[in-house]
Amino acid sequence: MQLLKDRIKKDGIVMAGNVLKVDSFLNHQMDIGLFSEFGKEFKRRFADCEINKILTIEASGIGIACVIAQEFGVPVVFAKKTPSKNIAGEVYSSRVESFTKGKVYDAIVSKKFLGPDDKVLIIDDFLANGCALKGLIEIIDQAGATLCGAGIIIEKGFQDGGKLIRDMGVRLESLAIVESMDENSGVVFR
Ligand code: G4P
Repeated sequence: MQLLKDRIKKDGIVMAGNVLKVDSFLNHQMDIGLFSEFGKEFKRRFADCEINKILTIEASGIGIACVIAQEFGVPVVFAKKTPSKNIAGEVYSSRVESFTKGKVYDAIVSKKFLGPDDKVLIIDDFLANGCALKGLIEIIDQAGATLCGAGIIIEKGFQDGGKLIRDMGVRLESLAIVESMDENSGVVFR
């Protein structure tokens, strides 16, 4: 999506350790007009799917998913992150290991809000190693819901997540795929 690539070029900051800082428009201060354009783009890309629910994960995914969901006219459910422990009963749960942040947590969703009738689009801001996305896919499996696909704002194409998720047969649409980045030459897109 050219609009997003231009914005990343203009306002994204490449940090040490292959981290792209986009907090002026995506995941701290949020440009809602831009998020609306994401919604239109995903609606176009998933036009053949009868999506009736959007699933994301706290924290940064929530605001983005809410604006995108307006375009689809469907509710958003977000997975909550809790310290990793065995939880049984009223929730679906999957263990997520975040390599970047070096922590392990359980992503949980109440059984009340996801079930076999749901046709789900996953939305998240970044795809890096794919652990969070894999956790959300596991939750959809546990619920017996249908996974229509995943919509990612920025995929870091030089990390393993995209390949991992596509190799699972998941329809993955990323609005910008970063091929490489460094502090001197900036961001190069695929
Ligand atoms: P994964 O979820 O794809 O497996 O990625 P990883 O464990 O490597 O990423 C951990 C967290 O770091 C994720 O946020 C992810 O969105 C974020 N992240 C990864 N690469 C970048 C980057 O280049 N720039 C920025 N700004 N964030 C990045 P999180 O901790 O799960 O969620 P949140 O609470 O921050 O939303």
